Amino acid sequence: MKSNITPKAVLFDAYGTLLDVYSIGKLAEELFPTQGASLAVMWRDKQIEYTRLVTTSNDGAFYQDFWALTRASLRYVCKRLKLDLSAASEEALMQQYRLLEAFPENIRVLEALKVKGIPTGILSNGSPEMLNAAVAHAKMDGLLDHVLSVDALRQYKTSPKAYAMGPAAMQLPASYILFVSCNAWDALAATWFGYQTFWVNRAGLPFEELGTEPTHTGKTLDDLLTLFN
Ligand code: LAC
Repeated sequence: MKSNITPKAVLFDAYGTLLDVYSIGKLAEELFPTQGASLAVMWRDKQIEYTRLVTTSNDGAFYQDFWALTRASLRYVCKRLKLDLSAASEEALMQQYRLLEAFPENIRVLEALKVKGIPTGILSNGSPEMLNAAVAHAKMDGLLDHVLSVDALRQYKTSPKAYAMGPAAMQLPASYILFVSCNAWDALAATWFGYQTFWVNRAGLPFEELGTEPTHTGKTLDDLLTLFN
């Protein structure tokens, strides 16, 4: 689904897109040798599964914020892998989640967009406290015009209400906003919502097989700058 409209604003997913979650797997491997990679992947999958469970059940009556779901999914996965998660290890892994680094090219890309006068923001499942801590730690504050958390709605992506926060904050139709995510499911649902999308496929993964392609695909965030020449 290509678009001829040059985007007027850019909205980023946070975890895995702007913020490098690699350090989670590294710490998990130090705490649980040989299990770090499995723990990191299963933790992420369970965390996203929980967001969908609380969004689609009972009109959100069982909503918990992303910090709580991140902790709950870590506990689940350790039980599932039969890993003894001490309180200290749990806290270390959770704190690592709060204080992630930006991918190396990200600051450069945010600065380049700022020079071009393109408004930018984050639209994330992360709770406001997590996002603010991560943005400050990754030295991205001052480079983002909006930090939007779905927590205000108590509905996670891929709810259309969550995606609607972007056009409302940026005062632009979704088709004028480039939504950038490394998560194929997020890039897909944002495309369905009506955004122009840029899927950052850092890991060389296949896209979702549901009959819709992202508007653009690249390997790193640098690639999206070609859309703004
Ligand atoms: C986020 C997760 C989905 O930041 O990566 O919303």
